[in-house]
Amino acid sequence: MKTICVLGLGYIGLPTASLFATHGHKVVGVDVNDKIVETINAGEIHIEEPGLFTLARAAVGSGNLRAASEPAVSDVYIICVPTPLKPDKTCDLHYVEEATRSILPILKKGDLIILESTSPPGTTRDVLAPMLAGTGLDIGRDIHLAHCPERVLPGRILKELIENPRIIGGITPESAEVTAELYKGLVEGPIYLTDCTTAELAKIMENTYRDVNIALANELGHLCESLGISAWEVIELANKHPRVSLHSPGPGVGGHCISVDPWFLVEKFPDNAKIIHLSRQTNDSQPEHVVNRAMQILADAGVKKPRVTIFGVSYKGNVDDVRESPALEIIGMLNEKVDLVVYDPHVKGGVGHEMSNLEESVTDSDMILIVADHSDFRFLAPEELGRKMRTKILFDTRNFLDPRRFREAGFDVHTIASGKIETTSKARV
Ligand SMILES: NC(=O)c1ccc[n+]([C@@H]2O[C@H](COP(=O)([O-])OP(=O)(O)OC[C@H]3O[C@@H](n4cnc5c(N)ncnc54)[C@H](O)[C@@H]3O)[C@@H](O)[C@H]2O)c1
Repeated sequence: MKTICVLGLGYIGLPTASLFATHGHKVVGVDVNDKIVETINAGEIHIEEPGLFTLARAAVGSGNLRAASEPAVSDVYIICVPTPLKPDKTCDLHYVEEATRSILPILKKGDLIILESTSPPGTTRDVLAPMLAGTGLDIGRDIHLAHCPERVLPGRILKELIENPRIIGGITPESAEVTAELYKGLVEGPIYLTDCTTAELAKIMENTYRDVNIALANELGHLCESLGISAWEVIELANKHPRVSLHSPGPGVGGHCISVDPWFLVEKFPDNAKIIHLSRQTNDSQPEHVVNRAMQILADAGVKKPRVTIFGVSYKGNVDDVRESPALEIIGMLNEKVDLVVYDPHVKGGVGHEMSNLEESVTDSDMILIVADHSDFRFLAPEELGRKMRTKILFDTRNFLDPRRFREAGFDVHTIASGKIETTSKARV
């Protein structure tokens, strides 16, 4: 059993702290936000993630997890604080630096410091190690240091924290080994050991690969809209090739990872990260593409003074996370052009627009614009929605709802990345 101090109790830190606590360790979870500390100590949680409420409550109830505003002397320190982008698209490392600074006075021989936050390659070696060395403790001998990136998928965090393969990058091979010993008690997936910079870059390349692939799909979508065919069909067919795996087009890329991490490489390697940079620009321009297309569809339908209903504002389906969500850009742009209504069963606010309930949102609307693909939307009855609307148009930027059901209810159905005029009799591949 170890004493563990987890710094940052957000989407990554709270599940991590709770899991270590329910695996027998004594954990102090630290957050600079006092409200979060109070909430967790009261047996509640402040984020939406399946299973987390029960787990965190059990961890606090067992006495193995408590939240605090200040770090406590521990054997292990795990840093799970944000690494967002600054407005100039460079990485804001000040949370990582502050969290590291906060533990310097209490570090002692034998301690292990782990950076879980996604960080530009070189951060552990060139930023954390010099700060820790300032204590006079010898890194790699007196104390150990490692980067252990998180690769969990929101919505499946608890399962993936345990089952996913983990990469552990040590400042020395021994630091990697010591860190692996700790995670072995928790992680059932394979654990791969390497150096810290390789671990940092591997994590960033996972998200960069996905961003570039999505940019390719979005570019294909533009071509298909011009050609009057469906990129979804093209992708479905191309992916029948055993070595092709094209991702999906959409309204843009959001969330704290895929839309952020590739910029860390553009920042470090402005002359070489060319495809990476272009892909970011392509994906970042999708919200504008969505807005232009929505306006064109409304104009083609002859709608005057349109009222548009956005369904789903989180960056993806079934989560409440709106960070970097393309919906925010879409809301900002559409707000200038139409009477806008916003509905999301998971998100309570913080999107720069007031939220409506379902019934209010569709009343007298001219278009339902699907931006996040929440499963709840599949259960909506198109006939009932249509009865309340002024003009029955569905514009689906996720190719998510069954177009036939909506068409049968009298909707004019449009899908992003498809210029195809689909009819109810269309034979599917
Ligand atoms: N959310 C994900 O799905 C995900 C997946 C993989 C990697 N990551 C990475 O994990 C890191 C954390 O992400 P997150 O989603 O958990 O962030 P988050 O914003 O949900 O939580 C971070 C928490 O850290 C707290 N904090 C800030 N400075 C602090 C300090 N000095 N001491 C203590 N607490 C502090 C904040 O108040 C906040 O509650 C980021 O680098 C992110 O890129 C996140």
